[in-house]
Amino acid sequence: IFFSINTNMPVVDIDVASLPKQLFINNEFVDAKNGLKYPNVNPATEEIICEVSEAGEADVAVAVAAAKAAFEGPWSKVGPYTRSKLLWKLADLIEENLDFMATLESLDNGKPFCESSNADVPLVIQCFRYYAGAADKLTGNTVEVGGPLVDDTFTAYTLHEPIGVVGQIIPWNFPMLMAAWKLGPALAVGCTVVLKLAEQTPLTGLYLGKLIKQAGFPPGVVNILSGYGAVTTDGGVGAGLAILRHPDVHKVAFTGSSKVGRIIMRECANTFKRLTLELGGKSPNIIFPDADLAAAVDGALVSQFFNQGQVCCAGSRTFVHEDIYDEFLEKLTIAAKERQKLGDPLHEQTTQGPQVSLEQFNQVMNYIELGKQEGAKCIFGGCREGTKGYFVQPTAFVNVKNDMRIWNEEIFGPVMSIAKFSTMDEVLHMANDTSFGLASAVWTKDLGTAQYMQKRLRAGIVWINCYSVFDANLAFGGYKSSGIGRELAEYALENYTEVKQVCMKSHPSFK
Ligand code: NAI
Ligand code: MG
Repeated sequence: IFFSINTNMPVVDIDVASLPKQLFINNEFVDAKNGLKYPNVNPATEEIICEVSEAGEADVAVAVAAAKAAFEGPWSKVGPYTRSKLLWKLADLIEENLDFMATLESLDNGKPFCESSNADVPLVIQCFRYYAGAADKLTGNTVEVGGPLVDDTFTAYTLHEPIGVVGQIIPWNFPMLMAAWKLGPALAVGCTVVLKLAEQTPLTGLYLGKLIKQAGFPPGVVNILSGYGAVTTDGGVGAGLAILRHPDVHKVAFTGSSKVGRIIMRECANTFKRLTLELGGKSPNIIFPDADLAAAVDGALVSQFFNQGQVCCAGSRTFVHEDIYDEFLEKLTIAAKERQKLGDPLHEQTTQGPQVSLEQFNQVMNYIELGKQEGAKCIFGGCREGTKGYFVQPTAFVNVKNDMRIWNEEIFGPVMSIAKFSTMDEVLHMANDTSFGLASAVWTKDLGTAQYMQKRLRAGIVWINCYSVFDANLAFGGYKSSGIGRELAEYALENYTEVKQVCMKSHPSFK
């Protein structure tokens, strides 16, 4: 696996009664205006962990008003150095609570504690520190104005200004990390935020509200809402949709399904909101015959089974060269058996937890059924694991043809589809023959092969001899239907700024 597992980290006892479960608005935890709440389910046990407040249109209105007041008032006077210190402080507070936050994430989402404590939360901390560092390094440029209309009395420069109130809508697969990817750059440049958490996983996001207040962010700078997307449970406008429709929200950032991405784009057209979208994928993981086979098998496991396969960049189309095909399948089958330990996400030996919800579990099981009906051959897995909790066995299909739905649609579960190839151009054509373009990977020891493929793969990231390597420094986002824009690294700062061009003519008073 690509991160070193520290198994000394303790799982913490969570006192559910003391967790924040209300909406975080203006630095206070408050009930939803209409008093709505909904049950939050533990996917490993199917039991209800607790009820959380459910935001609707009225709550979004209050949150946006708070964010607007903060943007126009106190937050506009907080300079880059102070924003940097606040973000750094937030990272410190998360680090002090690392094992607690990781336990909470695993409880709510079902991901194994070894992943939340070694990957999710450390990446959250790095993300906030990265953008703490970026806050006081924003620069515009100075330009020579020298066209046909001007003389030498002009000076011009650009300013990168915060867009204003931004709406951020995130999914459940990396709840806290998606919050960090969104909040980090927005706060670094001086925006204020209304963040809507995924309905399935509200707990770490609401807890983050507590830490944000503790770090010293002024009221209204960050508002965090639990609740649904399109409709509330009593039939009203959902918190997600209310954000999209609010005229005082000037930018929306979304991670989730391509289906909802399309809705979001249409809604944002009404008020020309700036928009970044991080959507689905069906990413190719390509293994050449000269690859380090043990590493490639390891990488294939990570690419598809990490986080129960609930990863937008999952290597869900695995291409294996014919010369090593049989050996690869053999080694993959053994490794999957050895490596994927299904069970209680809070047990330190567990490497695979349940799918996040009944809905996702059903979706994955339906695709497995479909794969069998379509004539693909299941070489391992293919069934539910146990009788309680949304556990699905690690599963792999071979003889997958490119007109099969399991080859073309995002399954978002621990289901790998494997195809054989013989030439580089054949595999390149197949790899790019998709409406998606989020990620890709190539396994080879040959620099020429790596370079040839890297230039021609139509995807936002190309991993070479690795997979799903994340870092605040690495830009992430999709070509084609996988999204619009890039998150992380310096690129994310542009998502939250407007360019203001200043052009000044001098009229000297003294002759
Ligand atoms: P989704 O796209 O419905 O939900 C993502 C977020 O959007 C949630 O916060 C949800 O409340 C919100 N939302 C939903 N409908 C909305 C609307 N009309 N207006 C505003 N906000 C709205 O994803 P869902 O249903 O949880 O998962 C379905 C599939 O989406 C998965 O099986 C997977 O294929 C894909 N997905 C992709 C993710 C990624 O990382 N790119 C993450 C999660 C899901
Ligand atoms: Mg939950």
